[in-house]
Amino acid sequence: MCGVGRRRRQLGGIYVETPDASVNFLVNHWLLYQILSSRFWGRAGFYQSGGAYGFRDQLQDSLAFLCECPWLTREHLLLSASRQFEEGDVQHWWHPPIGRGVRTRISDDLLWLPLALCRYVAVTGDTGVLDENRPFLDARPPAENEETVYDLPRVTEEIASLYEHAARAIRRALRFGTHGLPLIGSGDWNDGMNRVGRQGQGESVWLGFFLLQVLREFGPLAARHGDKPFAAACEQEAQKLAARIDRHAWDGQWYLRAFFDDGTPLGSAQNPECQIDSIPQSWAVLGGATDPQRARTAMQSVLDRLVDHEHRLVRLFDPPFDSAPWDPGYIKGYLPGVRENGGQYTHAAVWTAMAFAALRQGDVAWEIFQYLNPVRHGDTPEHVTTYKLEPYVLAADLYTIKGREGEGGWSWYTGSAGWLYRLLVENLLGIRLETDVLSFNPLLPADWTGYKLTYRYRNTFYHIQFQKMGDATWNVRRVWVDGAEQPDRKIHLVDDGRKRHALVELG
Ligand code: GLC
Repeated sequence: MCGVGRRRRQLGGIYVETPDASVNFLVNHWLLYQILSSRFWGRAGFYQSGGAYGFRDQLQDSLAFLCECPWLTREHLLLSASRQFEEGDVQHWWHPPIGRGVRTRISDDLLWLPLALCRYVAVTGDTGVLDENRPFLDARPPAENEETVYDLPRVTEEIASLYEHAARAIRRALRFGTHGLPLIGSGDWNDGMNRVGRQGQGESVWLGFFLLQVLREFGPLAARHGDKPFAAACEQEAQKLAARIDRHAWDGQWYLRAFFDDGTPLGSAQNPECQIDSIPQSWAVLGGATDPQRARTAMQSVLDRLVDHEHRLVRLFDPPFDSAPWDPGYIKGYLPGVRENGGQYTHAAVWTAMAFAALRQGDVAWEIFQYLNPVRHGDTPEHVTTYKLEPYVLAADLYTIKGREGEGGWSWYTGSAGWLYRLLVENLLGIRLETDVLSFNPLLPADWTGYKLTYRYRNTFYHIQFQKMGDATWNVRRVWVDGAEQPDRKIHLVDDGRKRHALVELG
């Protein structure tokens, strides 16, 4: 865990004063503390004390502190690239310092590298990182009958730029099944669905949307990097993939979750269990849906079927796996309503809130945020008795099992903290940094009139007041810096140590 002095130095880039004290408490201190200490540095919590890096896990975490300590994100991108095999796949997890870990057929891990890289470059403008070189790993891949190989890989003589590492990950991920959707391998983001594609044929709809986003973001980066052929390839692949998703992945009121090896759909109204899963729906929005009307319908289905207002939680999917004669994987080993098996998996619940925010349904997004808000789980004796966890850090999961609805599962070590921080800062408070430019797209609760943001840009403080000017909307009308109106309604940051005052008029 970090010392207080170090923590103070790391934090403090963004400081907000909103009418909701719990938002201030989470954004200004506790979420970043949880992310940096438990997730990023310690990689441990009370319920998980492994200390390993998860390839997808810490890449996601590192996107939460991009405004605060981007150098850590940079280092982590390069470290992650060095855990990639020559063939483009990556270690699912590894233990520092020597790097013993597992090689698997999990299908999404490798794609978090290009996605995180695109975000890092967009926020910092540091294109130099693309030319940093790192070696690859070499080890035996899993055999036909093996899911994972635990090994200490050899470091290769071959080195390549970070750009090439990321491009190689994308090339490797372009493996499709009979519906033209990406192969799920031995699991995607949901580790527990490890037998949906055990024979190598199963496909993932969620991964389709995720890959779509990666292709759409990496294409322009490739073009700016001078790699026109790969930029064009990304665009073409994205178009083809979007068309195949449209053709095969829609179930009528929402998107399917996956196809088993034998082509049986998962996440369909026709299934006895796991009829609707939240993650393809949210990523249909977050990945830039192919059909906006379908994406809206899908999110309405999430609201109707998975958001539980009575118990103030969001189910990952419903109904949980139980007795139906199919084998999606070790997820079935959890009791119905526990962890990934249809509990609230907070990580995915945050994506749900982000999707509603992206659809500009601010009331729903804020309502879901308040369901996830740990402070609200500790604000009455009844809530404390139900929840049973610390009210100052996020919990990875809440049970939906009958009689124990709303009871917290694991706390501290959860990737949901990083995403919740981003939901608050980027999607709801609407602060967006792109290189040296701050722009705004807030979506505030109806009863707020505004909030204050202190933004430290290197050694310069910007005191920014967001003010609602009468009307009910949250559109950015005008932006002033030290009395001068900004024609593009953005703040072009200057680091000269002078204190600045800005006003963002909303309405
Ligand atoms: C755990 C894993 C994470 C995975 C998630 C969902 O949090 O660390 O990598 O995506 O579970 O299965």
